[in-house]
Amino acid sequence: MTIERVGVVGCGLMGRGIAQVCAQAGHATVVSEINDELLAAGMASIEKFLSKGVDKGKLSEEEMQSTLDNLTGTTDLADFAGCDLVIEAATENREMKLEIFRSLDGICGPEAVFGSNTSSLNITEMAVATGRPERVVGLHFFNPVPLMKLVEVISTMLVEDSVVGEVKAFGEGLGKVVVVARDRTGFIVNRLLVPYLLGAIRVLDEGLATMEDIDQAMKLGCGYPMGPFTLLDLVGIDTTYYIANIMYEEFREPQFAPPPLLRRMVLAGRHGRKTGRGFYDYSG
Ligand code: 3HC
Repeated sequence: MTIERVGVVGCGLMGRGIAQVCAQAGHATVVSEINDELLAAGMASIEKFLSKGVDKGKLSEEEMQSTLDNLTGTTDLADFAGCDLVIEAATENREMKLEIFRSLDGICGPEAVFGSNTSSLNITEMAVATGRPERVVGLHFFNPVPLMKLVEVISTMLVEDSVVGEVKAFGEGLGKVVVVARDRTGFIVNRLLVPYLLGAIRVLDEGLATMEDIDQAMKLGCGYPMGPFTLLDLVGIDTTYYIANIMYEEFREPQFAPPPLLRRMVLAGRHGRKTGRGFYDYSG
């Protein structure tokens, strides 16, 4: 089976990037949101990103236009009926994701493959919520999706090897480098990244150094493109808190326990760039 028509559930921070790269790679792509307002915001952001790309000389006007022509927005999951692959990129909420997979199972053809962009939830649980657990994988992209080269494909003990192969080829067709991991919370990247980010918050809270100096130290001392606090603001403080809780619940290891400062930031509404303030202030 070749994956041609793609559906993306959710046009938020991740979903819009995933829909963009699918459409850019030539796939007819349907992307959904829960209401017209959120859909319009997501579509406008895709157009803005593409248009910046044209300004930077990264793509032509024609490539931008054909990408937009390949994209259709919807607020109705029924429009995923003809998709070969549906990638779920909804809010990181277990119940919501399970409900989406149950609905998709009744809408899509029996051969359709389902992927979840979850960063921390259990793929096996999503697979068994459908009548096709052998056709469900994790398909984890990184933020900002159009710029980040990696995709993690997550295989469960129920998935068919051929499906993992098809999805891997699909990811490579998007111009990404694909790695395969087993279904263990956090997969490869977050399993190693989350303790690092939580560690940065702990040493800030204990007064080791300023956050600016910690960011500089990790950027220049390790050659990372961003320091941990800049990255936390990009990923989202609320998202990191959510992921840390799930990882702590799964492994019961102190390295995954969300530090008190992280919880206070979430309660204070300082969720990072998307709210205008996280560790840094983006209001200007
Ligand atoms: N269209 C096309 N290309 C564009 C573009 C656009 N709109 N905007 C930027 N680019 C290109 C640039 O031209 C540049 O290309 P070049 O290398 O050929 O010159 C490249 O993309 C990088 O862009 P910039 O130079 O503007 O920006 P930076 O060099 O500062 O890089 C970054 C930005 C890629 C975000 C980099 O800072 C980075 O890699 N940061 C780390 C991000 C990261 O770690 N993300 C993962 C988070 S974890 C996650 O997502 C998992 C989740 O589960 C939590």
